Amino acid sequence: MRIYASIYQALFCALLTALHSGNCRRNHQCLQKYEKTENHILACTDCPQTPLVRNSRSPEHCARKCKKAKKNCRAFNFQRHSQKCHLLPFDRFGTDVQKQSNSNFTLYEKKDYIRECITGSNNYRGRRSWTKSNITCQAWSDNIINEHTFYPDRYPAHDLRENFCRNPNNDPGGPWCYTIDPNVRAEECGIPQCSEEECMKCNGEDYRGRVDHTEGGRECQRWDSVRPHKHHFQPKKYRDKDLKDNYCRNPDNRLRPWCYTMDPKTPWEYCNITVCDSDYTEESIANTSTSCLEGKGTDYRGTTNVTPEGVSCQRWDSQFPHKHSFLPENYKCKDLRENYCRNPDGSEHPWCFTTDPNQRRANCTHIPRCGAEASQETECYEDTGETYQGTLSITRSGIPCANWSQHINRY
Ligand SMILES: *[C@@H]1O[C@H](CO)[C@@H](O)[C@H](O)[C@H]1NC(C)=O
Ligand SMILES: *[C@@H]1O[C@H](CO)[C@@H](O)[C@H](O)[C@H]1NC(C)=O
Ligand SMILES: *[C@@H]1O[C@H](CO)[C@@H](O)[C@H](O)[C@H]1NC(C)=O
Ligand SMILES: *[C@@H]1O[C@H](CO)[C@@H](O)[C@H](O)[C@H]1NC(C)=O
Ligand SMILES: *[C@@H]1O[C@H](CO)[C@@H](O)[C@H](O)[C@H]1NC(C)=O
Ligand SMILES: *[C@@H]1O[C@H](CO)[C@@H](O)[C@H](O)[C@H]1NC(C)=O
Repeated sequence: MRIYASIYQALFCALLTALHSGNCRRNHQCLQKYEKTENHILACTDCPQTPLVRNSRSPEHCARKCKKAKKNCRAFNFQRHSQKCHLLPFDRFGTDVQKQSNSNFTLYEKKDYIRECITGSNNYRGRRSWTKSNITCQAWSDNIINEHTFYPDRYPAHDLRENFCRNPNNDPGGPWCYTIDPNVRAEECGIPQCSEEECMKCNGEDYRGRVDHTEGGRECQRWDSVRPHKHHFQPKKYRDKDLKDNYCRNPDNRLRPWCYTMDPKTPWEYCNITVCDSDYTEESIANTSTSCLEGKGTDYRGTTNVTPEGVSCQRWDSQFPHKHSFLPENYKCKDLRENYCRNPDGSEHPWCFTTDPNQRRANCTHIPRCGAEASQETECYEDTGETYQGTLSITRSGIPCANWSQHINRY
């Protein structure tokens, strides 16, 4: 009986530990708290503690070991071919620590140790050591100027190192510290939320910040994982989109940065990211005064406003005859002026809604390509152009010319 009891106890403890290990109950959840850098390692030549080397079949497995090592693991180098895992007791900011390129390894660093913003209230492990009114923090191991009982040894889980801002009592005001000013015992450090740390312009296509939760409060799924949600946005396929870890991004011209979520019932959600308040709109319009087509024509700013068949386009600020969600005010950098053909959603061509109630959208495939326009410029005409022999076959407003051979006897 006793033996069974203790087995149950052990099982129960294991279960508790598993639950307690936050979101690493399942393999696909284990790397959530890490930032990954391919082909790199952290190396320290002079650190007192050396890395623990362990056999490890996967980075996820290694993350479990790192979790078990607690404060003795702030990052790990995963050696892919030999499946070894080097648990690092230091982070990239340590003295003598260097990030080196090494094609045999993938580096995983715990986010809490490398970011200078917060998402929760007590997970900050950064190195800021002054308060919001710029008073230097007192070291946690000191008791000289302001007395206290938050000894580092007594709260090992809270990483009370040096005089860095921390939140060992889960204060709603965020990380704080005792100060070296006898008149100010303790003060908050004013560390920004990650959503405020970096603002976004336009629809956030270039947002490269570290928000990793949705506006509904759900944790984002890593872009390099297909669990819980399958998807085709593999980071390797979309290198220019910087689909890093589980940070909110906008790789496909949605309204705002978004991410897949860890909630199996919610495939994806938008993220709440502060919008920059600079007047970026005019600037970005001024720079892209292209009136010919390059690539998919996302920078096209010309005035073609009819379909290839000659039907007028619907104004973007109108909901008639077609209702739509491409409101100019929601796509500030896409220049949805008048009824001009535009490509606000990463389609293959600039397009527009048409004024024909029976035809919702039309691709403006008749806009000349930029190379073609350049050659047209050299094909200039003299006087009234009677001697023009060029190949331009489109009218000023973009309507394609009809075949002369079919109209030669009319006019
Ligand atoms: C990677 O591993 C291979 C074989 O294990 C070794 O020959 C090579 O030197 C390693 N590369 C680096 C950069 O350490
Ligand atoms: C904070 O104080 C330090 C010196 O104590 C000074 O160098 C720094 O400029 C101050 N920062 C701000 C924002 O006032
Ligand atoms: C989004 O952020 C703004 C400002 O940062 C905040 O006022 C608002 O409540 C947030 N909305 C959600 C849904 O979190
Ligand atoms: C626009 O162009 C000017 C000068 O060419 C440049 O200084 C500015 O940064 C550009 N702005 C944007 C938004 O690209
Ligand atoms: C416009 O082009 C896209 C991509 O080439 C195509 O999928 C779509 O069906 C076209 N739309 C119309 C209305 O022809
Ligand atoms: C114009 O007509 C000629 C002769 O009938 C024909 O060869 C050519 O393909 C036509 N071009 C177009 C764009 O229809």
